[in-house]
Amino acid sequence: MRLTVIGTGYLGAVHAACMADIGHEVLGVDVDAHRVAMLGEGRTPFYEPGLQETLAQGVGSGRLRFTTSLREAAEFGDVHFICVGTPQKEGSHAADLRYVDAVVDELAPHLRRPCLIVGKSTVPAGTTSRLDVRLEALAPEGADAEVAWNPEFLREGHAVEDTLRPERIVAGVSSPRADAVLREVYAPMLQAGVHYISTDPTTAELVKVAANSFLATKISFINAMAEVCDAVGADVSTLSEALGHDPRIGRAFLSAGLGFGGGCLPKDIRAFMARAGELGVGDSVAFLREVDEINGRQRHRTVGIARNMVGGDFAGRRIAVLGATFKPDSDDVRDSPALAVAAAVHREGAAVRLYDPQGIENARSVLPQIEYVHDVAKACEGAELVLHLTEWAEFRRIDPAVLAAAASEPRILDARNALDAPLWRSAGWTVRALGRPAPP
Ligand code: UGA
Repeated sequence: MRLTVIGTGYLGAVHAACMADIGHEVLGVDVDAHRVAMLGEGRTPFYEPGLQETLAQGVGSGRLRFTTSLREAAEFGDVHFICVGTPQKEGSHAADLRYVDAVVDELAPHLRRPCLIVGKSTVPAGTTSRLDVRLEALAPEGADAEVAWNPEFLREGHAVEDTLRPERIVAGVSSPRADAVLREVYAPMLQAGVHYISTDPTTAELVKVAANSFLATKISFINAMAEVCDAVGADVSTLSEALGHDPRIGRAFLSAGLGFGGGCLPKDIRAFMARAGELGVGDSVAFLREVDEINGRQRHRTVGIARNMVGGDFAGRRIAVLGATFKPDSDDVRDSPALAVAAAVHREGAAVRLYDPQGIENARSVLPQIEYVHDVAKACEGAELVLHLTEWAEFRRIDPAVLAAAASEPRILDARNALDAPLWRSAGWTVRALGRPAPP
């Protein structure tokens, strides 16, 4: 099939490369000419494991091309995937749909043959119906186009694998024709036994925001338990493990620590609250405000514990920070809890040195005032406290005995509960974590 993928950010670039990988002819579209040129040469504009190979293969096979022209896209595609961003509106929590709307507005007048426009971006419930009206008004007579919604559940850091082997495909369609087209697009996955859920577009839109809200709630639930653990002297890691053995609860997304960040969970729960308010059911999701607040509190708690560890005042202290990205295996620093903590510690007068395996460039552009270095040892040289803020595998492989010699004080706050605390303690480190009692 001939597919276009409009918007080549984390979602679109991965989707385009994976659709070419399963045999489609794909044209990726973006307004950013530099990005289009890079992708066209088979180079990824960001770090995502496995993407470089998949992209280069697609480009090399001739099945994957990129352009800045929506007109070319309109002429090329049987199916147009919308993968542009839906950021938070300035001054409000609602989703800003201007990029999604612009795609439909600019594509529609050039449509000359039957096609399906498929939204993948995360949008407020009701968006597809609104876009259908817009499309109807702007498409030429006989274009025979309609809109469907097919939300994406990929996780950064696992995006290629999640796209090629999804746990489910949710197709929000208004006609049997749209359903048949999506089944054809995803035929290799359906043959491999992936669950395909066909529903109306509004339910499909809602599945996505409900899923992200549930995941955010799980994280904030366990972080609330970590606060209780700290108050009473209990251990949240054991609590998570014990809860997780109950299959009705499950262990996934019960890792307590610095909380969630990134371009999705924080903005999606806020946009959901805003949309529910518009629909007159704000009370139904009012608990998400608490989820958001618990999440923000973990950043303050981390700064507070760190401050106590250096004697109550950061002024003039040398602090090493391990991790800048919002999660490991990504270079994304959007709403990163790690960077928020690094910035707060710096604001309070500490000299901050940060190392991250992939996120330094992006971090420097949003937080230029701290020092960036290119390895763990350099970050920790002379440090009075080490903050472990993103749980990269590389940090779990650190030899604490070797690092103890570099630091001025062997003290570490593991804000992701991911390090082997007994090992670090046996190498002479004072170790603190969130929701875990310090040994007597
Ligand atoms: C999230 C969802 O997991 C995807 O299913 C969804 O497709 C995506 O948003 C999206 O809407 O596009 P992502 O933002 O890539 O994916 O990252 P997650 O793996 O969900 O992690 C989000 C944050 O939660 C990270 O900051 C992570 O450190 C934190 N987290 C995760 C915890 O603090 N504890 C946990 O137990 C799990």
